[in-house]
Amino acid sequence: MRNILVQLSMTIVASATLLLVSCGEGAIEEPELVAPSLTEASEITSTSFSVDWDFVEGADAYQVDLAKDEAFTDFVSPYQESRQSFSEVRLTDLEAGTTYYFRARSIFRDSFSQYSNTLEVTTLTANDSEPGTSLKNSADFSVGMAVQVARLNGQHEEVLQREFNQITSEYEMKMNIMYPSESNFDFSRADATVDWALANGIEVHGHALIWHNATPGWVENYSGTDEAFEALIEDYIKTTVTRYKGKVKSWDVVNEAFEDNSGTLRNSVFRQKMGDDYLEKCHRWTREADPDVLIFYNDYSMVIDPTKRRATIAMVEDFLDRGVPIDGVGYQMHISHDFPTKASIEAAAGEVTDLGLLLHFSELDVRANPNNDLQALTTQRAVSQQAKVREVVEVYNAIPETSKFGITIWGMKDDETWLTDFWGHPDWPLLYNADFSPKRAHTGFLEGLQ
Ligand code: G3I
Repeated sequence: MRNILVQLSMTIVASATLLLVSCGEGAIEEPELVAPSLTEASEITSTSFSVDWDFVEGADAYQVDLAKDEAFTDFVSPYQESRQSFSEVRLTDLEAGTTYYFRARSIFRDSFSQYSNTLEVTTLTANDSEPGTSLKNSADFSVGMAVQVARLNGQHEEVLQREFNQITSEYEMKMNIMYPSESNFDFSRADATVDWALANGIEVHGHALIWHNATPGWVENYSGTDEAFEALIEDYIKTTVTRYKGKVKSWDVVNEAFEDNSGTLRNSVFRQKMGDDYLEKCHRWTREADPDVLIFYNDYSMVIDPTKRRATIAMVEDFLDRGVPIDGVGYQMHISHDFPTKASIEAAAGEVTDLGLLLHFSELDVRANPNNDLQALTTQRAVSQQAKVREVVEVYNAIPETSKFGITIWGMKDDETWLTDFWGHPDWPLLYNADFSPKRAHTGFLEGLQ
């Protein structure tokens, strides 16, 4: 278990109860304010932790204290009699491996309740690498993170090195980046990604050779013959896969080929110019370039869109029947804190593992604000998100060992998620806060591995 020493010292300074004091002609005095009741700290890191308590009836604010001694004489700035409106607080800029004492009391106008019980919390050591705190050290499958070259340094790098053993380029290993103009490859960003991974002993999952949403304009508007088009796609795939042979262990060769809710192939430029069997051709070219690389088909809504999933499984079964190279299927897993259900995820996962193929939960993020009803991540919603992450990991952890490839999280910190721009409102779908501290969702991932 994480070496967090959280001893609840129930030194009840005073537990005020709601007293109704009658005096004289039965007039009832103002009820005394009830003190907050603290249970445990959460999201404890080497420099921070969170505390939340139930709203106190009648309180219009709270006062919190943090000290290094139980007698509350050695206060920690700025948490001395600090006033706040919310019944939760995240205490930051703390020292690693240090024991702190926290208390709170309710406020109404200028009256105060008794102090709450005192929480004793010890922050993690600075380079806490206990198995319980690192995702990769706790899983028997690869734990991946979507990365961008500009972030392969600083705290991003520290977290990657501590917790992850696989990466996927979020956008810099797609065709529009690697093949920006005709007969002009630009592998600089892909090289930087792969070189960083190799230098850090981290695997690379290639994403994505063919995707209608990352096709360079010159390819979309190609004016040559279909035969010439097919030849240039074959050359692109073989050039790219050969370049990273032995370095990139797996590729999403084609991404998102099926329409939503119909099971028909998207009418992409690849289908138009190469035919319905363009996926087969791309898989075969990939295999010809690298006999060992793992070939994946990747798509979204694979749990909630049974028509798309059925079309995918039918294609995969056909490939297996005809000896078309395929090693696995990626379920992107862009889901929400309350949907889909664990049972539906389990059933959908089984349709791939029953074929003996690898299954990759390839782009996991868990929307905490799908209905845009929050302006900040509440404890209640963070708890719901933690439970969903736990369910996803429990499902994945239970699939046959022979089908385990990995779970990839689609972004490190909440403030970096693609979802904010995509949906146009705030969300907190990932495992780390903006300050790189692990969230309850991170704990949920670890819990799912138990
Ligand atoms: O970093 C550059 C910045 O320097 C530049 O100023 C700016 C404007 O050109 O572009 C920035 O790069 C953008 C990048 O995201 C980082 O924000 C790219 O233009 C933009 O195309 C890229 O979008 C990515 C998108 O795929 C398209 O490649 C998203 O990050 C990425 O999350 C998204 O991921 C996809 C998966 O590949 C497939 N499944 C769906 C998922 C979400 O759409």
